[in-house]
Amino acid sequence: MSNTGDARHSGQFRIGGEINVHRLGFGAMRLTGKGIWGEPANVEEARRVLRRLRDLAIDFIDTADSYGPEVSERLIAEELAPYSGLTIATKGGLTRPGPDQWVVKGEPTYLRDCVEKSLSRLRLKRIDLWQLHRIDPKVPRDEQFSVIADMQREGLIRFVGLSEVKVEDIEAAQKHFKVATVQNLYNLANRQSEAVLDYCERQGIGFIPWYPLAAGQLSAPGSALSSMAERLGATPGQLALAWVLKRSRVMLPIPGTSSVQHLEENTAAAAVELSDQDFSELDRIGKQAWAEAQAQAAKQ
Ligand SMILES: NC(=O)c1ccc[n+]([C@@H]2O[C@H](COP(=O)([O-])OP(=O)(O)OC[C@H]3O[C@@H](n4cnc5c(N)ncnc54)[C@H](OP(=O)(O)O)[C@@H]3O)[C@@H](O)[C@H]2O)c1
Repeated sequence: MSNTGDARHSGQFRIGGEINVHRLGFGAMRLTGKGIWGEPANVEEARRVLRRLRDLAIDFIDTADSYGPEVSERLIAEELAPYSGLTIATKGGLTRPGPDQWVVKGEPTYLRDCVEKSLSRLRLKRIDLWQLHRIDPKVPRDEQFSVIADMQREGLIRFVGLSEVKVEDIEAAQKHFKVATVQNLYNLANRQSEAVLDYCERQGIGFIPWYPLAAGQLSAPGSALSSMAERLGATPGQLALAWVLKRSRVMLPIPGTSSVQHLEENTAAAAVELSDQDFSELDRIGKQAWAEAQAQAAKQ
């Protein structure tokens, strides 16, 4: 199994048409405690993960105020500020009453508070990419988009992204600001966002697939990808990442890990070259797994 190769092999994408990043990024949600709550079990290893990113040419880091809460942003600032050459994307709009609990909150005053606090924690004057973590169904979405547009005009935010949205939400948001990225659940075995991905590709919007390894299920030995991985001299997780990277030129995967070893393994996926035939075979395996998951869900 190869653990060599850095994020340069993934090619580049220009966020908002202006900020160049390597397409394979890093998701910093796992640099927190159990239930995405509190400090990581091994804080020194978490810090080493962050320090290793630059060596691996990873220059796009995704986080959120709610990871910890606050812990992920704080660790990023402590290890990486003032971020020369790095693009930090954060999010707001979810509150955290406790471990594994996520409560949407989209009142405009709260969203402004999120941005101001992220700026302070991340030690930034402007956030390169700020993403609305969820549209709050209890608040008119135009009110949420309007305050975000205000903050962009005021220079607190450079580019705006959305998370877990439908095409129709993106179109509504585009009346207020240019949507630079969309971050939706997507991986080889979960295709619920295919239509959104296709829309993003047509519009040149960056698509950030969260859960690209299905929280490790796709990287587990014995997974449906194992025999193909063996043939290609890669790990199953590397194939899952290589597949999303090949799926679209606007794809910006952000696999998350709290371990340097896993970080290196995941980054080396950028150098895994899939033939068109390998890509189609992986696609078939993924679609089958997705159909089975849907059939299972329909029975429950
Ligand atoms: N927008 C949203 O609503 C939303 C929701 C969830 C996540 N996100 C973002 O998306 C990022 C990625 O999502 P995710 O962390 O949920 O899922 P993921 O990247 O698919 O999986 C991460 C999990 O897989 C394990 N893992 C990673 N690399 C591995 C490897 N090489 N071998 C074995 N296990 C491995 C990690 O454990 P170890 O720590 O042990 O490596 C971790 O538990 C997050 O960091 C966050 O930035 C966004």
